[in-house]
Amino acid sequence: MSITVYRKSHFNAAHRLYRKDWDDTKNQSVFGKCNNPNFHGHNYELEVGITGEINPETGFLIDIEKLKKIIKEEVEDYLDHKNLNIDIPEFKNLNPTMENISVLIWNKLRNRLEEYYQISVKLYETPRNFVVYTG
Ligand code: NI
Repeated sequence: MSITVYRKSHFNAAHRLYRKDWDDTKNQSVFGKCNNPNFHGHNYELEVGITGEINPETGFLIDIEKLKKIIKEEVEDYLDHKNLNIDIPEFKNLNPTMENISVLIWNKLRNRLEEYYQISVKLYETPRNFVVYTG
């Protein structure tokens, strides 16, 4: 038997999608509005799912207060109100797409959670566009 606990979170961040090694025409044709040189923001919505077994002693899969604290420290404190291209070292040479942001979040959570938990990260860049990464 396995069970999944979810915690929602939220952050605002700015980004620009482009490649330095491509010219303006190519960047515009591949990335469109997301290539705006002056950046633009998104209200990112995050759903973190933790899967495992219920601890029979506590009745918990995971202490949700502990999960809340880890998400705050690893995701909100790190990404909220940041310019992802400029402020976040991982995106210095990597496009901060919702795909790459979800992988970054998953890796940061993986470092903080016991190995017996499975982790899924669902990241909404807009209400209709989202990605799920499970490692
Ligand atoms: Ni965008």
